Amino acid sequence: MSMDLSKSENIVLNVLWNLEKKGVHKVSEADIVNQCKLSPVGVSSAVSWLDFKKLINLERKEFSEYDVTTEGKEYIHNDLPEARLLKLLKERKKISVREVMDLLGSEKGKIALVQLSKFSMKPDRGEISFYENPSAEKEFGIRLQLLSKILRNEKIDASELSVLKELQKRGLIEERKRFKRLVSLSQAGIDQVKNSGLTEKIERLTPEIIADGSWKGKEFRTYDLNVPVERIQNGSLHPLTYLIREIREIFLEMGFTEMHGDYVQFAGWNMDALFIPQDHPARDLQDTFFLKSKYELNFDHPEILMKVERVHQKGIPGYSGWKYAWKEEKARELLLRTHTTVNTIRYLYEHPEPPSAIFSIEKVFRHESVDWKHLAELHQIEGAVHSKDASLSSLKWLMRTFYKKLGFEKLNFIPAYYPYTEPSMDVVVEINGREVELGGSGLFRPEVLRPIGIKDNVIAWGLGLERLAMLYYDLTDIRGIYESDIDWLRNYKIRVK
Ligand code: PHE
Repeated sequence: MSMDLSKSENIVLNVLWNLEKKGVHKVSEADIVNQCKLSPVGVSSAVSWLDFKKLINLERKEFSEYDVTTEGKEYIHNDLPEARLLKLLKERKKISVREVMDLLGSEKGKIALVQLSKFSMKPDRGEISFYENPSAEKEFGIRLQLLSKILRNEKIDASELSVLKELQKRGLIEERKRFKRLVSLSQAGIDQVKNSGLTEKIERLTPEIIADGSWKGKEFRTYDLNVPVERIQNGSLHPLTYLIREIREIFLEMGFTEMHGDYVQFAGWNMDALFIPQDHPARDLQDTFFLKSKYELNFDHPEILMKVERVHQKGIPGYSGWKYAWKEEKARELLLRTHTTVNTIRYLYEHPEPPSAIFSIEKVFRHESVDWKHLAELHQIEGAVHSKDASLSSLKWLMRTFYKKLGFEKLNFIPAYYPYTEPSMDVVVEINGREVELGGSGLFRPEVLRPIGIKDNVIAWGLGLERLAMLYYDLTDIRGIYESDIDWLRNYKIRVK
């Protein structure tokens, strides 16, 4: 069966067929351009289509092109250092090495000496003498000629290859690897030519050919509705954005309210209000990014600071506190939030009436070295439930329910420690026999709740989003999430629940 081809496809096929008849089977695209009136781009696109339709065979072949470097260009202009030195020597018969360096510059002087020594002109006791050697002059001429030839993009003979390699080794020219496409007719292509006879068909009905009647008796090119077309890739959500939306959906469906917070926070909210003592290692410069402009902002709820100070220093009835000299200025320091638990504590302070169920999926920052399972910028899935009925078992139920909705059935809880929760537990997911820690959770301590005026229970959690994404998308390296691998961005598979 023969296909209807476009005009340029027909032209290219025609060229190939004419060459084929002369016994030439394989030609480059440039050869085709020379044989017809199509532009290089026109030929290239017709060749791609013919290849797509399997009417030709394509072969990619690597070849080298050369560029003259800046140094090479300078020599084309001023001649090679060795040639310049040879000319000088011819006139003066003898020159001191020092003078060579003065005249040519030390770098070029050295090059010239090295090159001349290959033609029996070696410096001896600080001097170099002329030695009649016609092959030197000839050789230097050849080098210069080849350099100019390359600059003019002329074809290089096989006999010039050794000089070419030498110029390349000296850094006077640079090799560029290029590809060309070699084209030959396939059997289907030959059949196509024979069957359709390459008659030109009308592709476009223009007012002119209707008016002058030249369409009469001609054949029209039909639309080939069976030609497969390239798939168009439309945009899609980034896998992490997709996952964030899924998670948001889960919490909203369960009646949670989404909270939002700022990247920059007072240490007083990010740390102190959460009963993290001021000498805690997490407050170290090694772990946290502090802002340089420490005191420019006034603490937004100064009335809380006194209460926080009291719990840290003295505790509350039944709880002893940390017993140290708490400093207000440390609470006023600004930092990039290290966890979104700061969103929770702020929300609870501003909405102290129970019950509430809140969540956020936002970014946090840690002064951490990045590796296959650690990032310095990551998102946390944060949340809390404030209710007198909230308990450890409701927390476990919530975690189980949440992860189950994302397709993770096997969840384990292991005892953990956070200064602001008691009891605390880490959430671990088991997948393909592997246990992956996803984050922390627990019941807020009275030392956290009392200063903000809360008496009922608050269960809270802070879970890593990227860790979860690793499992969700089956990645072995967490950094892959931010690497923008186009194939992954286009073809990622969502987990079937
Ligand atoms: N904030 C803890 C973290 O960043 C997680 C956590 C949140 C723990 C809430 C207990 C309660 O790892």
